[in-house]
Amino acid sequence: MSESRLPSIIAIDGPAASGKSTIGKRLADALGYLFFDTGLMYRAVTWLALQRGLDLTDEPALQTVAETVAIDVQPPSQADGRVCDVIVEGRDITWETRRPEVDAYVSIVSAYPGVRRALSAQQRRIGQRGEVVMVGRDIGTVVLPDADLKIYLVASAEERARRRYEEIIARGGSADYNEILAKVLERDRIDSTREVAPLKAAEDAVVVDSDGLDAEEVFQQILALCKAAPRPDGGYII
Ligand code: CDP
Repeated sequence: MSESRLPSIIAIDGPAASGKSTIGKRLADALGYLFFDTGLMYRAVTWLALQRGLDLTDEPALQTVAETVAIDVQPPSQADGRVCDVIVEGRDITWETRRPEVDAYVSIVSAYPGVRRALSAQQRRIGQRGEVVMVGRDIGTVVLPDADLKIYLVASAEERARRRYEEIIARGGSADYNEILAKVLERDRIDSTREVAPLKAAEDAVVVDSDGLDAEEVFQQILALCKAAPRPDGGYII
């Protein structure tokens, strides 16, 4: 059998809390690839804007933040459920990026074309180096349309809200399931109806429905897709 080559650039897109980060990180670790969660960048810009007290409807100001902020992503320094450390201006903001106010505003900030331009350009540069699992909303459609394998990961809004709820409880926080469900639905609405790079499956994406499956089952399904994916040279792995 000839040496097998796995897809080098893997894009995973999907709605809020569909499990992209958990699965993407596991897949990247299994393949020895870089894991890149693009949502973190939109979250970091939103957090910094809130921190600076900026008016979040001030699109040019938000664009400037996106163009100038240095977002550093490093391997996790603590085993507290994080998949990586997010450092902005020397501060570890990993959990700050998950705060409810960031959740509430991130879809508004990420709908600004100038913000998307700045962050997508950085994402594309990193993705095109290959051996990467990049997750987000528009990776297969806009950031890396030539990705070797595109996955669109979905689950019902109720299942996604339940997962997010359990994540918060597991971290020792308190949460209201119905409130989380409403926010997930609102973020989906804004993400999929914005003009620039709306959330949608690329035409050549494989849709994976994770409803009723645990993380291990989804991971195995996606790993199998990687092994069956067309190789970058046009052949197939046997
Ligand atoms: O983890 P979760 O699925 O809840 O969200 P995320 O992946 O961290 O993304 C947060 C928000 O950033 C999304 O709701 C989108 O508004 C935005 N985003 C985007 O517009 N494009 C991306 N490639 C990634 C995230």
